[in-house]
Amino acid sequence: EKGGFSSFMDKEIHDQPAAVRDTLLGRLDERGRLSLDELHIDEAVLRSVDKIVVIACGTAAYAGQVARYAIEHWCRIPTEVELAHEFRYRDPIVNEKTLVVALSQSGETMDTLMAIRHAREQGAKVVAICNTNGSSIPRESDASLYTHAGPEIAVASTKAFLAQITAAYLLGLYLAQLRGNMYADEIVDVVDELQKMPEKIQEVIDAEEQVKKLGTDMVDSSSVLFLGRHVGFPVALEGALKLKEIAYIHAEGFAAGELKHGPIALIEEGQPVFVVVPSPRGRDSLHSKVVSNIQEIRARGAITIVIAEEGDESVSDYANHVITVPQAPTLLQPLLATVPLQVFACALAGAKGYDVDQPRNLAKSVTVE
Ligand code: M6R
Repeated sequence: EKGGFSSFMDKEIHDQPAAVRDTLLGRLDERGRLSLDELHIDEAVLRSVDKIVVIACGTAAYAGQVARYAIEHWCRIPTEVELAHEFRYRDPIVNEKTLVVALSQSGETMDTLMAIRHAREQGAKVVAICNTNGSSIPRESDASLYTHAGPEIAVASTKAFLAQITAAYLLGLYLAQLRGNMYADEIVDVVDELQKMPEKIQEVIDAEEQVKKLGTDMVDSSSVLFLGRHVGFPVALEGALKLKEIAYIHAEGFAAGELKHGPIALIEEGQPVFVVVPSPRGRDSLHSKVVSNIQEIRARGAITIVIAEEGDESVSDYANHVITVPQAPTLLQPLLATVPLQVFACALAGAKGYDVDQPRNLAKSVTVE
């Protein structure tokens, strides 16, 4: 039930601290080591993996894109992310040393299921990260790591996205632990930070009124752009998808660095642009590069809505609106920065009078190819 919220989507946005907390639960021992008992794949096989391919569709594929940054960084295993429906039809190079990670909320997405079958036929092992117990995708995979987001009713995925990132991160850390890519202390540090995330997500939700107001104020927008860099890039893509799906507004996400290679031509007076700003404490040049992107688009008349870390003063001169999120390590920032984008889309679609839970033309699980 909606529990007093205006829609299931609104409720599910509010479920996110619990979705992340429950997905972490029982998977860490008291020393901060990962114990993924459900991963019934021989350790020797996991040690021999020389490539990871993440397959998924829609929002789940964006979770995969986020996870790629973390997995490659932690495990040093080349990782690709591919839309399941593209993967299958291009004769992909997959063999016994490939670990396929299939992400799916419903566990019934036919495109993803067909891709899994194809990968297994080539000898790859498949781990499903799934939110629905006993659904087809985990049943047809070699092992499953469930997300514990609880049932997601709204067609637009929210809490499953955050839970998928969390579970994929656990898998990445587990592989790094198993293969000795990280020191135990380093893993404990990441795990500690992960455990702080539910509280921080709650802080973002507690500040939602500002974002809701922005959503209702911008009800007449005909196009909204989203920019991000590094893990902020898939967050931008996800923000755009939410708006397309439920508010039927033209929306596009771009890698901020790509602006000058084309998309900046779209910027004209009054064009709203969300920008996900990386942590100023993270990788040096990343933050300043995104800040100069904000300057560039602002100079061309864009209305800039900037999602930045608390205490980041550098953006205020160029932002029409600043939405702050708590400080977190760069790789964990998507768990925070995505939330205002969900709230924005939900509020804007609501202000238009649309049924946010049942957008036109879409089904919750896409069980046909
Ligand atoms: O159930 P799945 O996670 O496999 O679904 C994949 C996509 O169909 C899904 O994420 C879709 O893009 C959502 N409507 C996004 O909000």
